[in-house]
Parts: sequence; C-alpha cells; structure tokens
Amino acid sequence: MYVCHCNVVSDRDILESIANGARCVADVARATGAGRTCGGCVETMRELVCQHCPVMTERQLGVAGAAR
Ligand code: FES
Repeated sequence: MYVCHCNVVSDRDILESIANGARCVADVARATGAGRTCGGCVETMRELVCQHCPVMTERQLGVAGAAR
C-alpha cells in the first residue's frame, strides 16, 4: 500500500529503508523521499518506525538496558 502518495512511496519501501538502517522518520525520509511534500504521511511513517525499528523493539523489550 502507498504510505506517501505525494512521492509514491509504499510501506514496503519504508520497511526496506528500516531494514537498511533507517532508525527515525528523518532517516526514512532521506532514504525514500517520503514525507517531504505535504507531510500527511509522517504519522504513518512514525508508526512503521516504532513497530519495526530494531532499536525501538529492543528498548520496548528492555533488551538494550539488560545488555549494558
Ligand atoms: S503524502 Fe507524503 S508528503 Fe504528502
């Protein structure tokens, strides 16, 4: 599905950018071009980062704190 209609960026494009190292909305925007026109997709981008970013997942599970 398209997340960013202005720049024709799909959820798969965003997930791929996260898999390739994007760790925040700004990283995803740089990697995909999403979110740079009207901004209407930024909240969905944020949700995808929160759900799929490995750093966020580790923090939510407390793994990062346990490893230190
Ligand atoms: S829908 Fe993404 S910038 Fe407009």
